Amino acid sequence: MCSIIGYSGKLTFAAPLLVESLKKMEYRGYDSVGIATLNNGSILVSKGVGKVTEVDQNMQLNKLPGAIGIGHTRWATHGGVNDKNAHPHYSCTSRIAVVHNGIIENYEELKIKLERDGHAFKSQTDSEVIAHILEKYYEKYNFSIRDTMTHVCEEIRGSFAFVAVFDNGVIAGARFDEPLIIGVSQDALFLSSDVLGFLKYTDKAIFLDNGDIAILENKKYTIFDNNRKIITRPITQVAWELGSAEKGKFAHYTIKEIHEQSDTLLKPFEASNDFETFCKFLNTASNIYITGSGTSYNSGLLGKLLLSKYAKKKSEVYMSSEFQYFSDTVEPNSVVVAISQSGETADVLHSVKRAKENGAKILSIVNIPTSSLARMSDSFLSLNCGPEIGVAATKSFMGQLMILYNIVFILSNRSLRFSVKDQKNLQNLVKRALDLNDKIKDVVNSFDTNLKDIYILGRSIHYPIALEASLKIKELAYIHAEGIAAGELKHGPLALIDKESVVIVLNPNDETYQDIISSTNEIKSRGAFIIGISNLPSDLYDVFIELPETELYLYPLVEIIPLQMMSYYLAIQKQLDPDYPRNLAKSVTVK
Ligand code: M6R
Repeated sequence: MCSIIGYSGKLTFAAPLLVESLKKMEYRGYDSVGIATLNNGSILVSKGVGKVTEVDQNMQLNKLPGAIGIGHTRWATHGGVNDKNAHPHYSCTSRIAVVHNGIIENYEELKIKLERDGHAFKSQTDSEVIAHILEKYYEKYNFSIRDTMTHVCEEIRGSFAFVAVFDNGVIAGARFDEPLIIGVSQDALFLSSDVLGFLKYTDKAIFLDNGDIAILENKKYTIFDNNRKIITRPITQVAWELGSAEKGKFAHYTIKEIHEQSDTLLKPFEASNDFETFCKFLNTASNIYITGSGTSYNSGLLGKLLLSKYAKKKSEVYMSSEFQYFSDTVEPNSVVVAISQSGETADVLHSVKRAKENGAKILSIVNIPTSSLARMSDSFLSLNCGPEIGVAATKSFMGQLMILYNIVFILSNRSLRFSVKDQKNLQNLVKRALDLNDKIKDVVNSFDTNLKDIYILGRSIHYPIALEASLKIKELAYIHAEGIAAGELKHGPLALIDKESVVIVLNPNDETYQDIISSTNEIKSRGAFIIGISNLPSDLYDVFIELPETELYLYPLVEIIPLQMMSYYLAIQKQLDPDYPRNLAKSVTVK
């Protein structure tokens, strides 16, 4: 979504630091950017449409004078992508500027009232109401900043985090269902949506609770809880490695992260993950629900299949955005396994809250151990795969699958032939799949650049991979792609297939093999171009992508790799930026 940063420290010029912080958090939203600094008692704002580097070049953001300031990268929710709607937003008198992440649900009624009282709005955003309400209490009623913040938080409804800079040098922020973290160093204080915003300067973080207000003033911070009492929140030391994300020799983060998978796949087993406790919860639960969004939902779907097939455990899997509608039937003795790379996805947090209210235990699988989801869980397992900057989830998907395989291994009383954890060969296997890189590039380059539709067929444990591949192709290459459970083909989708269609079949030589061959015959006879991904060749395939031999149940871990690479190269072929797909953000913190 959006990223926000506030800085108050020793520097004479805050702007370069703000710009750098925004670059680190740009994955959260990247349609426009802006900063505000306080210089000789005046608040200066500079902002515009585009990525941070672009706007910095055009507007000379980093030259804005002033020692303290705030900054923002935007992912538009209310109001189009234009300079006026970019943050920060001024109050009428320009004595306050504000940056916001989230949604103010009642902004229309507030705006009407404020306009009636003479406030002039300059943008179409919901966020701007915050600046005007701050103005009302701070300037008109002369309230203290604490009371001003309290009143604003009482008036606005929704899920939000915002940070404001006042002309008296105070920076204040509030957290309601969107992340906001204080960074504490000897020389500076930060208020940020992500530790990446300040990790270059300090690894000491205070994760604000819901309803908290934080005020940075005279090199000190004060936190007020929901009852507006001063409260001490613990300082957490976060891992420096979280911040070490560089592209290295790769052109994009996305392809770098795809190639990292041979290393990151074993990372969950290097973290202090307590699999036994996690599995105990699962073993004693009356019901197991699995939930997640996007890629994390797809890994959950595979988790359900593996649990059923190998651990003989029944579970239900729901997309988090839909789970809330089933929460009435979540029983007290059940367990919800919530999967989320960021641990901040609003749909996931919302559905988990509902299940928790019903008495369910929450187990989560996250990449960010300090995330909201991890903190509200009874037990969590960390992917430990380092920062995933590309908006498309790749190495986090692999990490999620590794954790799910290991859970299934434990719950099946270790009856699978081997655990993924001990499977050093798995690393070689993944490396061999990564070696397909050039072949995949060539295959993609042979495609018509106007390719409109791609279908991916799979059965059983390959079906979630078909869904994941279609999600990757859509989001990276903007091509319509559909993952289809191959058995469903004859029940409708076959009507879509013609000579223009490209169909990818996921076809390792397991129990699904013969049925997939039958489906492939059916689509072949309709003239479609067939890409077979398998360990066995077939004359039916126009292109054969050969997978290395392995245990059959491990194929999902391997077959996703050529498909991730294919999505990446489809984006490159169309000259798109795979790291920052249009309209998307890495972390979807609004519902
Ligand atoms: O951080 P999360 O795993 O909760 O994110 C969930 C989805 O938003 C995410 O997987 C999204 O679908 C990816 N961009 C897909 O590549």
